[in-house]
Amino acid sequence: MKLWSGRFEQEVDKAADSFNSSLSFDKRLYRCDITGSKAHCTMLGECGIIPADEAKKIVAELDAILSDIESGKCVMENAEDIHSFVENELVSRIGAIGKKLHTGRSRNDQVALDIRLYLREAVKNIVLQTKELIKTLVGIAESNLDTIMPAFTHLQKAQPTTLAHHLAAYAEMFCRDIDRFKNAYSRINVMPLGSGACTSTPYPISRERVAELLGFPSVTPNSMDAVSDRDFALDFLYASAVAMMHISRFSEEIIIWSSDEYKYIELSDSFSTGSSIMPQKKNPDMNELMRGKTGRVYGDLMCLLTVMKGIPLAYDKDMQEDKECVFDSYDTLNACLTVLNGLLKEAKFNKQRMRESTDGGFTSATECADYLASRGVPFRDAHSIIGQLVVYCIKNGKTLQTLTLEEYKRFGNFDKDIYEAIKAETAVSRRKAIGAPSHECMVAELSEIKKRISEK
Ligand code: ARG
Repeated sequence: MKLWSGRFEQEVDKAADSFNSSLSFDKRLYRCDITGSKAHCTMLGECGIIPADEAKKIVAELDAILSDIESGKCVMENAEDIHSFVENELVSRIGAIGKKLHTGRSRNDQVALDIRLYLREAVKNIVLQTKELIKTLVGIAESNLDTIMPAFTHLQKAQPTTLAHHLAAYAEMFCRDIDRFKNAYSRINVMPLGSGACTSTPYPISRERVAELLGFPSVTPNSMDAVSDRDFALDFLYASAVAMMHISRFSEEIIIWSSDEYKYIELSDSFSTGSSIMPQKKNPDMNELMRGKTGRVYGDLMCLLTVMKGIPLAYDKDMQEDKECVFDSYDTLNACLTVLNGLLKEAKFNKQRMRESTDGGFTSATECADYLASRGVPFRDAHSIIGQLVVYCIKNGKTLQTLTLEEYKRFGNFDKDIYEAIKAETAVSRRKAIGAPSHECMVAELSEIKKRISEK
């Protein structure tokens, strides 16, 4: 039974009916829908818009419907959308009284409320999951404060750093993700019910009371805007897209690091997959999927942006397309955070391999130039001299570590302390500015990150 069938003389076409229906995907809003309806109905009773005893009866039956859905007794089917389903179910259980629930309300403000309720929970969970991931990263970083590895630029070895420094960079990204989700939350957390179809309602409703019952700190200030606004969903999708971008970058590194060429990391069997033909293979499929799924989350953001861009005020049915984007991004990000966290907890970092790798690729060249600069050579000249020294090494099969002092002296004012200066450990320990990789700096940064996530 359609909520709107009174005005129609013909049955709706079968294909049109299924085209129009959103129940297959919006049924996941059932709890939000019932929670919103209970608050609305309570308010209707309190304001004397419907009799108080009838309001109570409706609320009690809504609770019963909720538990029946949860136990599987009540199957969500045969309705246009979740709002119709709940109302039909209510009326089939308590008859005419149930028909009063929709007084002073439209599905337009109802669905806006439902998505906001859904997204509040979604954001809370994503923030929680992101915090868990950050904790894992901080834990690994804390046990690798002195694990030397090369820092890369252009994917070429650049300068020595530590695994702690590298992983804390991701922890910073994920902290910013939390900020973005919190920011989105403040725009999600506004109560739209009472906006009606588009111009509110003449009933003496109390929107503040509904907001209070549902824990919203404020109500939307314009009913036209309230029923046609999905900015808050876009905020969520944007925050999700950026979070996925971070996960994807990290995944790309894990994929590279687990290759035979790098061997910086070994993923546990429980987070790897094999090949159907090559018996030796252990593939980083989880991370490849995360990298791949980033595309669909970007797609969700583009989808809703595009859906919204041509919609005249106020509500238009185009907006029904918001839900699949939101659900898909939420499910995808949620799964990625869970799997990435589990994978990191079990991954083994190959410290020895990282240390060896740091000495290749002339990662101490900057230290050599700084060494000369500290002895009065202008840095630009020192840079050029060390450039020539590197060419000499390449031509003669040497490294900065295996050059003799004689050879060094041919290029500039070097003494035997150069060998200490070019050690990766020295390079790291001398970097003591805020944000630098030295042991003390990393202790400070990691404790600051821990403080941040315990506050948020
Ligand atoms: N299923 C609809 C949606 O998701 C609910 C609102 C329908 N409103 C309407 N006037 N047809 O947007």
